[in-house]
Amino acid sequence: MAILELPKKIIYGIDTINQLPEEAIMIGKKFSLFCGEASLKKSGYLEKILELLGMKGLEIQIINGITPEPNIPLVLEILNKVKEYKPDGIIAIGGGSVIDTAKVVSALITTNSSISELRGKEIEFSIPIIASPTTAGTGSEVTRFAVITDLDTKDKFILYGKALIPQIAIIDPKLTFTMSPLVASATGIDALSHAIESFLSRSATCTTDLWAKGALETLWNNLIPSILENSLYSKERVSYASFWAGVAINNTKTTLVHAMSRPLGGLYNIIHGIANGILLPPYLRFNAPFIPQEKMSYLKNLMGGYPPDKIEELLKNLNLPTKISQLIDKDRIDIKLLVERAKSAKMNIDNNLGPVREEDIYAIYMEVL
Ligand SMILES: [Fe+2]
Repeated sequence: MAILELPKKIIYGIDTINQLPEEAIMIGKKFSLFCGEASLKKSGYLEKILELLGMKGLEIQIINGITPEPNIPLVLEILNKVKEYKPDGIIAIGGGSVIDTAKVVSALITTNSSISELRGKEIEFSIPIIASPTTAGTGSEVTRFAVITDLDTKDKFILYGKALIPQIAIIDPKLTFTMSPLVASATGIDALSHAIESFLSRSATCTTDLWAKGALETLWNNLIPSILENSLYSKERVSYASFWAGVAINNTKTTLVHAMSRPLGGLYNIIHGIANGILLPPYLRFNAPFIPQEKMSYLKNLMGGYPPDKIEELLKNLNLPTKISQLIDKDRIDIKLLVERAKSAKMNIDNNLGPVREEDIYAIYMEVL
């Protein structure tokens, strides 16, 4: 049996953020508005959005300053504020971290559970979320996953459940146009990784492949022009492709790349998309013997060569690292701990095309050290 899970409504296109008040008012009158550190304010969008919401008579509590890679103390601090305010729903406008924080807070309010109690279990209840991404990569606006870091153990883990899928996703590419080249490259590679991992996952179906291939082709053809040539046409396409890749992983889950990139983020603060980029070439080399011939031919045709080599080329063109040691001192890296953490992401490991042994994870980390 295969089920395709999506938000109830996906609104996409230039200037669709203007639809936000109409959608919100159908949910309630009182909202907590989650946003990031500064970019929404700097771009003038925060003011515009608040004005639009105010015109409809909606009451808004602003929760801003949500940092990248949300952690447990931050989520709990926000939870207290939101609990006191008692909103009808949460509006999350930001990158994956902002949307993920909204998901965790919305689940914690409804379930009255602690974060550790939610871990490893299907989350079934949350208050409604309207999500609008300002980056083009995580796909969090359409997925059932939220990533969070335990600062004490430096463990970055996922919470999951159907209730975490935002009720409404508004994908307005214009909100992503102000991303810095680094953020655009890192999030773009994250989206590419989602598309590839979904396409090559054990749970892939002909339906999820449609979303994954659409995302893959669009990202492959538009990532470079969107970032290096500042093409607005390509930026818009990358924004849609990131949501398609999100739909793809929402219905297949990710695989070995994400199992191995989360510990790099948790233990060494390596940006999620950058960690995925570093791991993609060895992941593809490792899986090559298990990839069905038609899928391998598709990738070769699209990329114009052997996929791991072409991805390395793409990373170099985007000025992204291909080795961990380009970011942190080799001596600081505890490979044993990385392997242990990666191994514990069973959901992703079991979903990988080729069967993964502990020594395979070790070999891949060593290859990109
Ligand atoms: Fe990701």
